[in-house]
Formats: sequence, structure tokens, C-alpha cells
Amino acid sequence: MSYRVRIENTRHEFTVDEGESVLDAALRQGLILPYSCRGGTCGTCMGKVVEGEVRYPDDRRPPALSEAEEAVGQALFCQARPASDLAIEVREVRSAEDIQPRKLPCRVERLDELAHDVRRLWLRTPGNERLQFLPGQYIDFLLRGNRRRSFSLANPPHDDELLEIHVRQVPDGRFTGYVFQELKERALLRFEGPFGTFFLREDSPRPILMMAGGTGFAPIKSMLEHAFHHGFDRPIHFYWGVRGRRDLYLAELPEHWAAAHEHFHYTPVLSEPDPGDDWQGRTGFVHEAVLADYPDLSAYDVYMSGPPPMIDAARTAFLIHGLDPDHLYFDAFDYAVDPPE
Ligand code: FES
Repeated sequence: MSYRVRIENTRHEFTVDEGESVLDAALRQGLILPYSCRGGTCGTCMGKVVEGEVRYPDDRRPPALSEAEEAVGQALFCQARPASDLAIEVREVRSAEDIQPRKLPCRVERLDELAHDVRRLWLRTPGNERLQFLPGQYIDFLLRGNRRRSFSLANPPHDDELLEIHVRQVPDGRFTGYVFQELKERALLRFEGPFGTFFLREDSPRPILMMAGGTGFAPIKSMLEHAFHHGFDRPIHFYWGVRGRRDLYLAELPEHWAAAHEHFHYTPVLSEPDPGDDWQGRTGFVHEAVLADYPDLSAYDVYMSGPPPMIDAARTAFLIHGLDPDHLYFDAFDYAVDPPE
């Protein structure tokens, strides 16, 4: 048994399966509704039921919904299950301004070695807290002395039980040195986020070119996993530029996406392949590989993420090749060394 839900303010419609919450069903079908705890305790997901009826697990009103609110039709959509077709009013998250950054503690659940100089952190926020974000956004780790270090979220928003961060070791970088030499599983960190306007514009009809340098792969991964999850069918060609073969950490992932999705293409590009790499693929600067394949960029949306010199060179070259600046989205990672305290 499934029910139809119509969002009155946007006229969007979606289906909720038996036992599924209204929020889970909306997220599954690519509609982003506001949420935080997903446990009925924060009230962020509150909206109004204007037609139809909802029930709650064990028929118990969740803690963040008062009797008075329920009496006037308010509901918590992270907990509410439809008992009929519904018409609801709720604010849809359409842009970065719709999400208020928050400060949260987190625990390092797991650490993976992805490459000789890249570590992956899996972070768990406490109790019922979940971080809502758009695919491509970043968080700031809050460090002693009011210092911050920004890292993109690499997991897609629908898969938010743990937050995924890719950290590249920077010579003399204090925070990355700490991550590589001292940080252990179960360590506690604090962050603020999400931030940034580098997120996937889902309303555009244009084909997409994506380009990453090094760990600039992280936000692109979040965007792509979000796009695949929601059956996004615009053509996407992703170029990943790194120095040598060993820098293509998680190399099997984009290859797997290319095999699984007809509309997705992947081109790795090595700038300095080692003779031992036995590399038959593309070489040189990654943006030059993009331009060799797409000399006219006037019809494309372009997303790029990586170190500032790569972004600067690509931006200049892409605009010369017809890219409309309104269709260029980028995130320049700064691998800056911390100043002395
Ligand atoms: Fe917190 Fe629903 S997301 S109460």
C-alpha cells in the first residue's frame, strides 16, 4: 500500500511506501525537505497537513510536537506516516541559504587509508543529530585558537548516517599532520557547517562537465552519488586530474559509475605519470583534456573543484572557450599551511 503526497506550495508530488516516513520518501525521490535529528526531537521537519491524516510510530506523538501544534494540523514529517493521501505545506530546501549552518561535535567512527597521502574520516554526530546539506557543500573543523579548516563532504545527503571527509596530507600542515600522525578512531572533533554555494543545480537542462583535481574529488563524489540515487539523466562527463596513478584514490568508484550509468563518462588524466605507472590514458593538465574534447563550452554547466592554480587556469581557459560564467560553479581548495600560533 502506498500513498500520494502533494506539497501545496510547490505542487510537487511523491509517493510514500508502507511504513515509510513522509521525509524519507521525499528524500528518496529527490525532494529535499528540511530536517535535522530525524528522530522527532528537534522540530526542524515540521510542516502542516492540509488534507488527509498521518500517524506516528506506536501512535505516540513525537517529543517535538505539542498537542496544540498537532491540533492545528502541524506534523513532524521525519516521523509521520500517511494514513491516507496527503496535501501538505512545507518549505522545500532549494538553495544554500535555506540551510542554517550549525556547530556540532562529532566522533571519528572510522579512518581509512585511501592513498599514500589521503585519509578518509567517517564522522558520527551525536545521538539524534543529522547534518542537512546540499551535495557539494563543505564543513569547517573548529580548532584551537579560533582556527578553522574547511573540508568538503564526500557522502551524498541521502546517506547521512556518517559524514565522509577526504583529507590530503599537506607538508607542514598542522591540522593534516594531526590527522595523519595522531588522530585515532573515537577521537572527538567539532565542526560548523554546511557552507558554500558549490552544489548541484538540478533545475538546469544542460549537459554537465565536472572536473576535479586531487581531493577535489570529494564534493564531486557527493554530487554524483546524489545524482545517481535520484535517477538524474542529464549527460555528465567527469575528468579527474592527479599527478600519478597512485593518486587516483578510490579509482574503481568512477569506473563503476561509468559501467553502471549510460549517461555518465569518466576520464582520468595524469599530469606526471611515473614510468612504473604503465599509463595508456590521458596525460597533461586536466583542463586541457576537457578542452581537447569540448572546444565549445557554450552549452554546458561546468563544475570544478581542486587547488586554486588549477581552478584559475581552467576558469580563464573555459571562458575563452565560450563558457557562460553563470554556468560555471567551482570550489577552490586551499591547502594552506597554518600560520604560527
Ligand atoms: Fe528533527 Fe524531524 S528532523 S523532529
